[in-house]
Amino acid sequence: MDKREFIKTLTLGSISWSISSHNIPNWYNENDFSEKFWEKVKADYNLVPDYINLESGYYNIIPKPTLNALHNHIDKVNRLGSMYMRNFKEKEKDSITEKLSQIVGCSEKNLILTRNTTESLNSVIKGFNWVEGDNIIFANQDYGAMQQMIHQTAERFKLSTTILDVPNHPKDDNEIVSLYERAISKSTKLILVSHMVNITGQILPIKKICNMAHNYGVKVLVDGAHCIGHFTFSIDELNCDYYGSSLHKWLAAPLGCGILYINEKHHKDLWPLFTRNSNLEDGIERFGHTGTHPAYHDISISNAIDYYVMLGPKRKEDRLRYLNNLWTKPLRNNNKIILNTPDNPKRHAAIANVGIKGISPSELSNILFEKYKIFCVAIDRPGVRGCRITPNVFTSENEIISFRNALLEIAS
Ligand SMILES: Cc1ncc(COP(=O)(O)O)c(C=O)c1O
Repeated sequence: MDKREFIKTLTLGSISWSISSHNIPNWYNENDFSEKFWEKVKADYNLVPDYINLESGYYNIIPKPTLNALHNHIDKVNRLGSMYMRNFKEKEKDSITEKLSQIVGCSEKNLILTRNTTESLNSVIKGFNWVEGDNIIFANQDYGAMQQMIHQTAERFKLSTTILDVPNHPKDDNEIVSLYERAISKSTKLILVSHMVNITGQILPIKKICNMAHNYGVKVLVDGAHCIGHFTFSIDELNCDYYGSSLHKWLAAPLGCGILYINEKHHKDLWPLFTRNSNLEDGIERFGHTGTHPAYHDISISNAIDYYVMLGPKRKEDRLRYLNNLWTKPLRNNNKIILNTPDNPKRHAAIANVGIKGISPSELSNILFEKYKIFCVAIDRPGVRGCRITPNVFTSENEIISFRNALLEIAS
């Protein structure tokens, strides 16, 4: 996509500014895949040199161009105060939503900005038109807080729940699709499914799950917390009913930016979690009112998109997968090391989960930090015991090799 397409300039009386980045580095070359290129990317980040950060799964540190733009937006919104909030906030939000819709691959008429995946998915789980006795399906490997929200909603509306276990190493897509299919009963109304399982990094065959579920009249809510800006896909192609994601993860937008996609078929039958003048004839705008919040974070999504486009979505995805393979491939046959993430490149991107026999996940993460200055997170959940390893665009080959060597040393 042409970066210039994204440049839009707003004029506010005597004050004008571009909602696009004016300070995107000019050294990028679309065909440069070398380690030198990624060194320059790393220099765009203000990183703490004391440890290797392999925990980008929680939050992606934002690069300096986006951070500088955020500072500018804070200054300008603060200078204009209510003038901005009353006259320009909604207009800018609309143009950012439109720009974002091109990145996520859906119509802006089905997309709203939220604060995060939690808000997006809870809006659907809580706003769904439940009838007593309805059934909802989810997996033990889904995000813990979403599971809790479903339990709470089930108690409130007297729903039944069906809980699956997603295998770490499925044979093929069919194994996953038929797992969900077997769980469907006459009363099933909704499936919550993770596009990427956050504790292992496994990517699930969402389109196939949606197509299968629709044959039974079941709607699908996709937890895509880790997916926008991580690997390339389009929401429309997934054929899902609802999709939530956090942009402060892989799009590297500032903290507190997310999206909710609602297929237009469902604009009328979902109850908005936050509402202003909720009119059934309205479209997606029924869902977008959350009150006053840091508008400058929303504006910075535009700059995060520019940086992402500069990196190149495919180049970024390939790099992340390359970094993953650089340490996982040589360890797959080590009998002391347990990889909880599939080998098939279609089934993972940056994230993988690794355990060592005889060492608990928390012991492993402590050793990695204390002895090797490598920061990651321990995961101790049913069927997934290990450390989640999440490199980023600022991770070098050498850092990954140091991590791989550390694992080998600990395992021996
Ligand atoms: C799979 C998954 N879903 C939902 C969330 C919640 O995201 P947020 O805290 O940005 O709302 C996370 C956070 O890590 C996650 O990994």
